[in-house]
Amino acid sequence: MKHLKKSINNHILPAQLADIPDILALFSEEVEAGRMLPRNKENLQAGIRDWRIAAINDEIVGCVSLVFFTPKLCEIRSLAVAEACRNNGLGKKLIEAALILAKERGAEDVLTLTRAPWLFERLGFQKNDIQNFPKKVQQDCQACPFIKNCDEVALLIKIKERILP
Ligand SMILES: CC(C)(COP(=O)(O)OP(=O)(O)OC[C@H]1O[C@@H](n2cnc3c(N)ncnc32)[C@H](O)[C@@H]1OP(=O)(O)O)[C@@H](O)C(=O)NCCC(=O)NCCS
Repeated sequence: MKHLKKSINNHILPAQLADIPDILALFSEEVEAGRMLPRNKENLQAGIRDWRIAAINDEIVGCVSLVFFTPKLCEIRSLAVAEACRNNGLGKKLIEAALILAKERGAEDVLTLTRAPWLFERLGFQKNDIQNFPKKVQQDCQACPFIKNCDEVALLIKIKERILP
């Protein structure tokens, strides 16, 4: 789908409740493989305003969400792009949309824990130590089956003074 590149801006949208089954389907394989944290329907319903989707011809092909630990600190979570649509810039656009949303919500710092650090570094995120975020560790890492052999990298971006795209 290389033709997507020029018109990608128009496809990043706020998620609607009706999108939930498609969003969950988008990353169910990644969750089953243990590469992404699970999210459930109730959780999505409660926080639907913190999700953005990428849609092409009414088909949901990407998603991203924010999870808040404090009013000033949130995490980019559940970033996924359908396999057939990858490497067209959608992942980058979804992260940018999440940063704009984070700023609208009053966040100052945005964290991510990822196996794709390059995607975030090119947008200004910098490597950090997960132990600097005890609420994240307590809330998610403690119960994670991969806590002893975690291969994810923590990155942070400070958005308070930043002009976002
Ligand atoms: C990670 C993911 C969201 C990226 O989505 P995407 O739409 O392909 O992202 P983009 O097109 O914006 O960026 C891909 C870029 O990363 C580059 N890239 C891919 N793998 C790379 C690697 N191992 N090292 C460096 N760069 C890499 C690509 O070449 C591309 O670069 P380009 O834009 O200069 O061509 C997608 O691969 C995905 O859904 N993966 C499975 C779910 C997942 O791992 N989610 C967690 C991410 S936190």
